[in-house]
Amino acid sequence: MLAINGKDAGTPAVQGEPVTLSIDGALVTVPAGTSIMRAAAAAGGAIPKLCATDTLQAFGSCRVCLVEVEGQRGFPASCTTLVAPGMKVKTESEKLRQLRKGVVELYVSDHPLNCKGCPADTHCELQGVAADLGVTTSPYGFDGANHQAAAADDSNPYFQFEPSLCIACSRCVRACDEVQGTFALTIAGRGFESRVVASQDEPLLDSECVSCGACVESCPTATLSEKPLALIGRPERAVTTTCAYCGVGCSFEAEVKGEQVVRMVPSRDGRANRGHACVKGRFAYGYATHADRISTPMIRKQATDPWQPVGWDEAFSYAASEFRRIQARYGRESVGGITSSRCTNEEAFLVQKLVRAALGTNNVDTCARVCHSPTGYGLKHTLGESAGTQAFDSVMKCDVIFVIGANPTDGHPVFASRMKRRLREGAKLIVADPRAIDLVHSPHVHADFHLPLRPGTNVALINSLAHVVVTAGLVNQAYVAERCEPAPFQKWRDFVSQPKNSPEALAEVTGVPAELVRGAARLYATGGNGAIYYGLGVTEHSQGSTMVLGIANLAMATGNIGREGVGVNPLRGQNNVQGSCDMGSFPHELAGYRHVSDAATRSQFDAEWGVQLEAEPGLRIPNMFEAALDGSFKALYVQGEDMAQSDPNTQHVTAALAALECLVVQDLFLNETAKYAHVFFPGSSFLEKDGTFTNAERRISRVRKVMQPLAGLADWEATVGFARALGYAMNYSHPSEIMDEIARLTPTFTGVSYAKLDRLGSIQWPCNDAAPEGTPTMHIGEFVRGKGRFYVTEYVPTSERVNARFPLILTTGRVLTQYNVGAQTRRTANSQWYDEDALEIHPQDAEDRGIGSGDWVGISSRAGETVLRATVTERVQPGVVYTTFHFPDSGANVITTENSDWATNCPEYKVTAVQAVKVQRPSDWQRRFHEQNEQQLGLLRGATSAARSRQ
Ligand code: SF4
Ligand code: SF4
Ligand code: SF4
Ligand code: FES
Repeated sequence: MLAINGKDAGTPAVQGEPVTLSIDGALVTVPAGTSIMRAAAAAGGAIPKLCATDTLQAFGSCRVCLVEVEGQRGFPASCTTLVAPGMKVKTESEKLRQLRKGVVELYVSDHPLNCKGCPADTHCELQGVAADLGVTTSPYGFDGANHQAAAADDSNPYFQFEPSLCIACSRCVRACDEVQGTFALTIAGRGFESRVVASQDEPLLDSECVSCGACVESCPTATLSEKPLALIGRPERAVTTTCAYCGVGCSFEAEVKGEQVVRMVPSRDGRANRGHACVKGRFAYGYATHADRISTPMIRKQATDPWQPVGWDEAFSYAASEFRRIQARYGRESVGGITSSRCTNEEAFLVQKLVRAALGTNNVDTCARVCHSPTGYGLKHTLGESAGTQAFDSVMKCDVIFVIGANPTDGHPVFASRMKRRLREGAKLIVADPRAIDLVHSPHVHADFHLPLRPGTNVALINSLAHVVVTAGLVNQAYVAERCEPAPFQKWRDFVSQPKNSPEALAEVTGVPAELVRGAARLYATGGNGAIYYGLGVTEHSQGSTMVLGIANLAMATGNIGREGVGVNPLRGQNNVQGSCDMGSFPHELAGYRHVSDAATRSQFDAEWGVQLEAEPGLRIPNMFEAALDGSFKALYVQGEDMAQSDPNTQHVTAALAALECLVVQDLFLNETAKYAHVFFPGSSFLEKDGTFTNAERRISRVRKVMQPLAGLADWEATVGFARALGYAMNYSHPSEIMDEIARLTPTFTGVSYAKLDRLGSIQWPCNDAAPEGTPTMHIGEFVRGKGRFYVTEYVPTSERVNARFPLILTTGRVLTQYNVGAQTRRTANSQWYDEDALEIHPQDAEDRGIGSGDWVGISSRAGETVLRATVTERVQPGVVYTTFHFPDSGANVITTENSDWATNCPEYKVTAVQAVKVQRPSDWQRRFHEQNEQQLGLLRGATSAARSRQ
């Protein structure tokens, strides 16, 4: 904890031997290395301060915090002076008061206390310190040299910089360095000329600033402040909730006035984020009130008909009658549902319950199918649990950080900042990625090894790393003997030792020089605590599951699982990917990853739900599309997922959606999938409902309602209404009751309840009798499955090969400011940083094709073609091109193929053979897309004006 009794203690907590001292006559014991300022806070006092805050190292510039120390001359700053045994400190005296007053009067001469109307009025630290010291004006007058005319920087869309209010305390600079790790700010000039500048004295928007808000959070005055604070005014209440973007799961105080969010303040008590945030969660929440939100249920017979606005009950009964008609005609298995990784645990649980219990089929799947399903498979088989092994805090005990196929600074920015902090403290870094991601070279962080492998060769790389570990005698024999099954280990050891798996033999395949592989393997195996963090660059391959097995093998062989600082950690993309999987969203598993064929598990659910569940797994998403195209699958209920944009081979997906007789889409906006829908249930944003999300570290956190649902019902209530219309009663008055049911039915959630979440703040599952307050580190002492199991991971090249027609490999990823299909972030000012998907291409490949940065490039694959603008960059290696998929009209997934992971069908987004040529106009698909888009928006406009006239 940083704060003491909820108050800023001035300097960070430290660990050390106990030291006892006297502060104002009272004895206090604190760890050695603690500042006098923090010790005084621990003793219940509060020394005035301006440049100090407990999230940053002490700086000692403002001189407001002076104290007297017996036996010492002068008046030391309490924030920079450390405690000593027997020290006697006086924090209050007339002399100290006069000194502090003099300092504050000097500040006030350049920062008059004209507080009325200032956005920071009532929470400005200068205002507070001045009031405590009785300073209302400055004896020095206001006519001397000052900064009152300094020009404001208004360039950032979310926060303003008003330098006339700056007291040059440097908290913003230190926050950018220490908390965020971007080093975008400096104090230029000296003395009176000191001023905060961004990058090379540029406007913030043009600088290296990534708009995380850490500087805003740390600023003691209104110099850096959120724009809505000035526009909307002071908040009236605060609600603790969880970010709805990525799998870091940051906790926020949503500060609200009336029904308007004034700002989202990252919670210092949030265990996933520890007071930090990124540009998405901190600022990009405006989509929740965007004009594109649909607030009325709608129905239509054909996807080319105008939408007809209806009441909720009519929408439920129309959808239910269609599903029942279709089941009567085509059979029970002709329908299914998709749960959302953006919705709450409770909502995902209800959708899969509706499909299994009300529709009587296991045809339910989730968008994790297309991202982390191989994680579930690989970690379950090797370790016994389908989840990451650590808490995020664990990275601070890590000596070697191994990042494989993940780009944390863009995808998981708050965790990346923690990681960078640990790297600045001295941890080593290995990055395996085809691109030189930011972590490879960023301010004060440089990868010790960057393994720039060719897309599609992960398994060859992991085998060559394992080869070095085994053949160089780096296996942790004692760990393996005690904790792993011997026979599979021997089989694996014999396999990876084969000469064909040596780094030299595989260098041709991976493109990574053997000496880099050897160096990285040695570092990981011998460098102390080694932790692997991986992302979709591991899973989204034809051998995604094999690679997860390979990662777990390597971690077990080196003894790097089962304590803090180590582990195997999938970085989850969407906010609730972990949760949607936990909740039984896969067609073969009930909540808690228990197979539907297990009679004992089924009987528990049968008893609770009053049905007889099917024992056969249902259809996966790709199978649903196939079945739709062959005419056996006819109706689908999709909650909060946009398959027409996010799934591979767009033309195949849209053909399947168009073949359905009833498609029910529940979403905030008319997304790409909804353009094929017959029923639209308006969705609710995370601000409009109660529930829980589970982040990448298995942490269950509360989502709390901040405002009423725009369409009248939260998503869980709409699912309840649909189930009732299907004739299956769901009786819940609050999502806490759904969680109680989840806890009754899921062994890893037995001890979870809203009351406990309120008490503890958050809980990492498993949470049960054995671990009543949750489990930060898994597999301590033994693996969940008992003994860890090694698997042989034969490298099988993908069938997606380059040839003369398609000579380049396209790989995909995301950027910091946009999120997934962009439905949310595109409707915020984040588009000022990134407003179209671009194609990164190496200068050599660009030159061969006469392509320059900004040119239109036609990209064709075996699946289709699209056109993107080029960015010529050495971030990608020759032969590899890269793009993102945040904008529907860029059609990135028109090119990706239907190749998928052998075990889970997770699409091979990361490897598509393509050709790139300079072109002058959009592709045919893009022209058709724009026509259909215009047509569908026209059909929607009719419905929204009809809905308005009904009101
Ligand atoms: S918003 Fe973040 S990145 Fe930008 S200057 Fe502030 S701390 Fe640095
Ligand atoms: S902008 Fe704020 S935090 Fe930064 S130096 Fe000025 S007053 Fe301090
Ligand atoms: S890091 Fe992820 S969870 Fe945290 S604020 Fe950013 S998007 Fe939200
Ligand atoms: S708070 Fe100690 S010098 Fe500023």
